[in-house]
Amino acid sequence: MQKVLVTGGAGFIGSHVVDELVARGDDVHVIDNFFNGHREHLSLPEGNIHEGDLRDQAWMRETLAKIAPQRVFHLAAIHFIPYCNEHPTESVMINIQGTQNLLDALEGTPTERLFFASTAAVYPPKEGEHLETDPIDPMDVYGATKAAGEALVRGWAKGSGKAVAVGRLFNAVGHRETNPHLLPDIMDQLIAGKRTIALGNLDPRRDYIDARDMARAILAASDHVATGSDVFNIGANRQYSVVEVVEMFSEALGEKIEIVQDQARVRKVERPSLLAGIGKLSGATGWKPEIGLDRTLAELVAVEPANG
Ligand SMILES: NC(=O)c1ccc[n+]([C@@H]2O[C@H](COP(=O)([O-])OP(=O)(O)OC[C@H]3O[C@@H](n4cnc5c(N)ncnc54)[C@H](O)[C@@H]3O)[C@@H](O)[C@H]2O)c1
Repeated sequence: MQKVLVTGGAGFIGSHVVDELVARGDDVHVIDNFFNGHREHLSLPEGNIHEGDLRDQAWMRETLAKIAPQRVFHLAAIHFIPYCNEHPTESVMINIQGTQNLLDALEGTPTERLFFASTAAVYPPKEGEHLETDPIDPMDVYGATKAAGEALVRGWAKGSGKAVAVGRLFNAVGHRETNPHLLPDIMDQLIAGKRTIALGNLDPRRDYIDARDMARAILAASDHVATGSDVFNIGANRQYSVVEVVEMFSEALGEKIEIVQDQARVRKVERPSLLAGIGKLSGATGWKPEIGLDRTLAELVAVEPANG
């Protein structure tokens, strides 16, 4: 049993990481300011839930000294791209300064391994698989903050001798999603009884991975990197357009769903395609995604009967 800290553990992916760690018997602590996270996502003793903000340096130092984790998964961030574009300074303060505050607060703790949640948004647009060796050239403030975060944690590994695994996460889907991405947007409209749904850009293809598969990948990456630092894409290696996702919802629901394009929702800058090359993590750890998008959607529709 290890003492493990998950920052952002009350959020969407973080809560699935917490579930995996609890299932393997770890003593799991969470830091979250509940900007986006929910206590109901967590089945942990109250004393293991530390409510506070990454930006509060003194609180971070005091809390990390108290928890004294052996391993840390750093997922707390803001990441909904339209929100980050509208709040660039807040994004920098949380995603970059907050990451540095965590690194400073780790000094003197027994932490030997750190996982950092980066993103596919560090890559420039590309057709075909993104590989970890691709150049980093983010196209928005969110991607820029995560590229900076990667540089900080990898520099920390060099200076401290501790191990750092960086996961470049593609599009997580499933239960407990907190941000108004495509699937929650569709589900909200279905739950409201609509069968003609309004959406923005219809053509972009994304690499959707069930959050439970992603959580297992995050643990596998952290278990694998014992010294130095390394970077792994975490996705499913398959792409679906928005239109295809809606067709799959139709099948899961057994009802026809029509789409109307709402100009107010169309993003002016949108990458056409995202596809994760996942051979590096699979080859190193044996991990592979197991839950198809059809199963994720069927489970979402079953739990939230989208029947108005
Ligand atoms: N969801 C995705 O598809 C996706 C894709 C790529 C990368 N990521 C990255 O994975 C991580 C988790 O994403 P998620 O989808 O679970 O998002 P989320 O918003 O559900 O989780 C982030 C958590 O961090 C907390 N948080 C935010 N600001 C904080 C602060 N200043 N101090 C303390 N806690 C704070 C939020 O309350 C939330 O619980 C993020 O770092 C994100 O950038 C997610």
